[in-house]
Amino acid sequence: MSPLSSASAMSSGSTAPSSHRRESASVPSWSAPPWPEPLRRVATVVRVSHDAKDLYLDLIEQVLTGSLFLEQEVVDIRPRGWERLVARAINRRGYRVVRPAPVALRAEGRDCPPTAETMIGLKRLRNIRECVECVLADDIPGDLIEAGVWRGGASIYMRAILAAHRVSNREVWLADSFQGLPPPRLPQDEGLNLHTLPELAVGQDVVSKNFERYGLLDD
Ligand SMILES: C[S@@+](CC[C@H](N)C(=O)[O-])C[C@H]1O[C@@H](n2cnc3c(N)ncnc32)[C@H](O)[C@@H]1O
Repeated sequence: MSPLSSASAMSSGSTAPSSHRRESASVPSWSAPPWPEPLRRVATVVRVSHDAKDLYLDLIEQVLTGSLFLEQEVVDIRPRGWERLVARAINRRGYRVVRPAPVALRAEGRDCPPTAETMIGLKRLRNIRECVECVLADDIPGDLIEAGVWRGGASIYMRAILAAHRVSNREVWLADSFQGLPPPRLPQDEGLNLHTLPELAVGQDVVSKNFERYGLLDD
């Protein structure tokens, strides 16, 4: 097992050792966004290991979730009612109507990130790492599979974990329509119109390119 634990390894800046804390004061004032201080605070990883493997996986999970520079990320607002008309008029002039990215939601995997390769968030990525490292430590045979990959981030992470542990005899399989969700067929899914969301349809070519971006595409 890795010495890293999932939820306990996450912390707000207030409990992190000062040498590992991302100080908001270090952000140059000319680049600091003009929103209130709490929205600029970023999730902080408390390091319990300086092993290169752990440092790599810590960093890659920050990048895959878009957490590394989350305080600089903005999300487009799609207002309703009269505000929609205002937003359209603003868009027509070449501007975007945006709000700061939701920092707390991202850690929990409860938002749909505009650019990150996974939407499951830091805590659930950590859970994947614990599971895969457990499988490796206990020598449980078999490959790894993700069903429903979206932009591929969680699968990229599994491939990165194997690479970091120098495992070459296991494969990572990705199962997806690469066209988004089908319309609901079961009574309990009625009204769940996720098939209408174009942002959930990510093609295989995009997923392959994302693997390539991280130097982890096998074939
Ligand atoms: C919520 S996203 C998955 C998020 C992803 N695990 C991540 O790390 O961000 C759902 C994915 O499942 C796929 N999917 C959903 N229902 C499917 C089905 N019945 N057949 C094939 N793919 C499906 C969609 O295409 C989409 O890529």
